[in-house]
Amino acid sequence: MSETVLELKNAAIYQRESLILSEVDVHINKGDFVYLIGKTGTGKSSFMKTLYGDLPLQEGEGSIVDYNLRTLKEKDIPFLRRKLGVVFQDFKLLNDRTIRGNLEFVLKATGWKDKKGMDSKIDEVLDKVGMKTKAFKFPYQLSGGEQQRVAIARALLNDPELILADEPTGNLDPQTSVEVMEVLQDINKNGNTILMATHDYALLLKYPSKTLKCDGQKVFEVVQKKQTT
Ligand SMILES: Nc1ncnc2c1ncn2[C@@H]1O[C@H](COP(=O)(O)OP(=O)(O)OP(=O)(O)O)[C@@H](O)[C@H]1O
Ligand SMILES: [Mg+2]
Repeated sequence: MSETVLELKNAAIYQRESLILSEVDVHINKGDFVYLIGKTGTGKSSFMKTLYGDLPLQEGEGSIVDYNLRTLKEKDIPFLRRKLGVVFQDFKLLNDRTIRGNLEFVLKATGWKDKKGMDSKIDEVLDKVGMKTKAFKFPYQLSGGEQQRVAIARALLNDPELILADEPTGNLDPQTSVEVMEVLQDINKNGNTILMATHDYALLLKYPSKTLKCDGQKVFEVVQKKQTT
């Protein structure tokens, strides 16, 4: 039996009072890799924000990693986010501390106390993204691709049940995008579930997977055309 990590039924997504998406039915199982595509302004980020509790779900049904999005309270949000790994286009690393410092900050904020345990968890996630040797560096000493790999490592710290990546390659050149995508593919192969919003059709062709499209205030699954060359 496949395990559901995300289910939306007849959901509507709003930014304040403006309707962005309606009649949204989406189902994601454990282990899936799902793309979310669509032109700029069609609601990909709004969709993601609803999933991590940044926008309230006001209509329809929604459950994510066992949280009901309709009844989600402000006090539940930090706990929901511990079960999710969120990755953004602009990395969002803290420049006043090293990579290790960045990851330690998240662990401490989520209740970790044991220094040895934290160190070994940090090494484990940095190893997964190929950044173990750079833990002593500051974010501004890394390339964009390296910073994004660290951001992915940070998303892995609390063994998330679902990773939400909102245009994780949006600031990267094509070659670096492929490298970051390889990291996401690897962690998906190791069992992590990933929902990734992207504009990058080259990645979709290179790494085909289930694809949802935002268009005309709706979300629907698209069947990818096979590359003919
Ligand atoms: N904070 C906000 N307040 C009000 N409206 C917003 C807000 N953020 C986004 N919107 C509106 O919601 C709609 C969807 O925006 P959203 O950012 O979800 O699109 P997107 O698909 O992620 O676009 P992009 O590809 O440019 O990232 C747009 O019309 C946008 O103007
Ligand atoms: Mg967006």
